[in-house]
Amino acid sequence: MHDLKKIKSEFLAKLKGKVNLSEINQIKSNLFGKNGLISSQFKKIGSIEVSRRKKFASDLNFIKDELQGLINLKLKELENVEINEKLEKEKIDITLPERPFVRGRIHPVSQTIDEISSIFSEIGFSVEEGPDVENEYNNFTALNTPDNHPARDMHDTFYLDEKKQKLLRTHTSPVQIRTMLKDKPPFKIIAPGRTYRSDSDQTHSPMFHQVEGLHIDTNINMGHLKGCLSYFIKEFFEVKKIKMRFRPSHFPFTEPSAEVDIGYEIKDGKIIIGEGDKWLEILGCGMVHPNVLRNVKVDPAKYQGYAFGIGIDRLAMLKYGINDLRAFFDCDYRWLNHFGFDPLDVPSNYRGLSR
Ligand code: DAH
Repeated sequence: MHDLKKIKSEFLAKLKGKVNLSEINQIKSNLFGKNGLISSQFKKIGSIEVSRRKKFASDLNFIKDELQGLINLKLKELENVEINEKLEKEKIDITLPERPFVRGRIHPVSQTIDEISSIFSEIGFSVEEGPDVENEYNNFTALNTPDNHPARDMHDTFYLDEKKQKLLRTHTSPVQIRTMLKDKPPFKIIAPGRTYRSDSDQTHSPMFHQVEGLHIDTNINMGHLKGCLSYFIKEFFEVKKIKMRFRPSHFPFTEPSAEVDIGYEIKDGKIIIGEGDKWLEILGCGMVHPNVLRNVKVDPAKYQGYAFGIGIDRLAMLKYGINDLRAFFDCDYRWLNHFGFDPLDVPSNYRGLSR
């Protein structure tokens, strides 16, 4: 018993004084280590006379808990002191110049969509979106493409159910329908997004991107369409002059319909847009078919307008000199590092689209 009292008073004094971390650890091992003072007392229990054993054991446990509690308290205190000292010392010098953070790059397709949206917003178009999973009606029927229409086969559609009611949209044109169904004319929108067709080679990917354009009002004609597209192409390719030709074509949802080619030439292995005697097809367009307007409860005697559909990936390839479409979707980090854009380089017409 005498031993216990001595241990207690000796170590209480020690722990109440000023101790550092290594001293505490030393005390801990002196008391509770394999041959520590407290541990040895525990080993002694069996040899103590029966009448005193119970009291001894309970005193011992009491002292053990008290000392252990004190040690833990001291450790916690020291930890706090250490943290506070660290916080005092560690200061961020906000006057230091920032380090440029250049890990992530914006994908050329995203950048191109931003550029397109910026250009069209300057002339009053707003941006609409529609879902990738469409119904058959919006994708075909409402767009004047009835069952058995050959255009349905040409679209290599991914159907999602046996009855062919749900599909992955084959173009962004169904967003025309969604927009006109939910609002009243006039309409002046673009709708960029993903589209899907079962097709894959160097210039086709089963998932690709289009932007749809739609302008419906009381006095819109083909001249407006030409003006709008020629403005867009010039802005997009950042050229002053552009050679453009409208080739008669057919789409079920427009009448008349046209495909638009732009002139280009190859100089020193580089493609120059807007000049030369070669032609490149970049979009489909036309005056919205009266049947489409009727399908969305717009009176074709009062309202008419134009629509167009542009392949976004194609435009990005031309503008940024990328020659394999499939690379867009390979997720190769090195490719993205090379062709990607700085996240802070947000396109705007005012300060130039691409820098
Ligand atoms: N949807 C057509 C396609 O994917 C492109 C298109 C052509 C859209 C003419 C239009 C349009 O809005 O008027 O091939």
